[in-house]
Amino acid sequence: MKKICVVGTGYVGLVTAAGLADFGNSVIGADIDASKIEILKNGGIPIYEPGLSEVVERNVRAGRLTFTTDIDTAIRKSKVIFSAVGTPPGEGGEADLRAVWKVASSFAKNLNSYKVFINKSTVPVGTGQKTKTLILQESGNNDNFDVVSNPEFLREGSAVGDFLNPDRVVVGTRSKKAQEIMRDVYHALIIRNVPYVETNIKSAEMIKYASNAFLAVKITFINEIANLCDIVGADVNEVAKAMGMDGRISPKFLHAGPGFGGSCFPKDTMALMEIFKQNGIRTRVVEAAVEANEIQKRGVVDKLRSVMPDLEGKIIAILGLAFKPNTDDTRFSPSKVVIPLLQELGARVQVYDPVASDDFRRDFPGLEYKDNVYEAVRGADALILMTEWNEFRSLDLKRVKSLLRSPVFIDTRNIYDPCDMREKGFTFVCTGRSNCDE
Ligand code: UDX
Repeated sequence: MKKICVVGTGYVGLVTAAGLADFGNSVIGADIDASKIEILKNGGIPIYEPGLSEVVERNVRAGRLTFTTDIDTAIRKSKVIFSAVGTPPGEGGEADLRAVWKVASSFAKNLNSYKVFINKSTVPVGTGQKTKTLILQESGNNDNFDVVSNPEFLREGSAVGDFLNPDRVVVGTRSKKAQEIMRDVYHALIIRNVPYVETNIKSAEMIKYASNAFLAVKITFINEIANLCDIVGADVNEVAKAMGMDGRISPKFLHAGPGFGGSCFPKDTMALMEIFKQNGIRTRVVEAAVEANEIQKRGVVDKLRSVMPDLEGKIIAILGLAFKPNTDDTRFSPSKVVIPLLQELGARVQVYDPVASDDFRRDFPGLEYKDNVYEAVRGADALILMTEWNEFRSLDLKRVKSLLRSPVFIDTRNIYDPCDMREKGFTFVCTGRSNCDE
């Protein structure tokens, strides 16, 4: 097993550090953010990620996982350095790689023996080559290293499971020495016959963007089919189920909703469009998906107005602020589009999310944040269910109806059955099955 340093303790870096330690490696999790490292050193977890605290605690206790802010020393002590820092969208949508260059620079300054620099972050095709050039420049032309692309496919909310049981591991390098080291790092998966793909750096970088953009396009496609289903009276759940029975389509990521959000799909689709543009061509498919996704988010307000045209002075309850359940992340959440639109139309908004309120409050301090579903619903003229948290799947509908000033229920995630809800007296609108024939 290897001495490994993982720079960056966000949901990718921390899950990677804990997961690699769980594979038997000795891992140092490093971050410039002293507050995060302080929390970790005191046995806490600075992010919300189900199951992560158990894996971290298990490996810290076993002495395989430690944390530090001293990145230079951690690099000098390690043979394998993962860069798992953020690559947020820049001005024009391209990936901002400044954090990656900082890690590469530290790597270059601490190249006291042969080391492997592994890019775990999502980076544009060609970043591996630029990283190699930067390290050579800043190490006085010391070429005693290799650069590897090892993209992550972790979903927030299920990142631990996705790391420990991945569909595949992708490793981009043509260096035999680096390939051997990477096989050792992922030995625990290889002996379990987890698909392990060795390719060149650019293909590995492209696999990540192509995979995420494809998933974003797939979601957007079913969202547009849902919009048509609402008009013609089909049921998108039935359509998606039968579509998914085709092995070429698969049933996953065919759940219609208010549009995709999160720290990845929006960022990676924008970055991929930028990569196309920088290479003199366009991706009309991804461009259309990004545009359609924004329309999908705004369309939630149209759903409400289809049954409540005048929102002036109305109180609207929003259930769910996170971009998906089981995470506190609200980056590019559909609620961040819907709530300002409601306010522009004169509505007052009161909100509840089991976990993500604090994160959301940073951008929307002026909202009425309630402590539970029923307080959020109390006195509202309508409620909009935005995130499919489990606790929203078994609401006391009698109580909800009695607390609402008018029984208007917009279900953007198709959690409830339209016929059943109407029998219960709700004015009910969902996504792609609102008018399905009884
Ligand atoms: C995604 C990719 O799945 C993961 O492989 C990659 O490493 C990071 O980006 P994540 O963004 O955490 O993961 O969440 P994901 O579960 O993919 O959902 C992304 C968005 O799509 C969410 O807003 C979710 O609500 C939406 N979604 C997902 C749908 O609207 N319908 C679906 O069927 C699936």
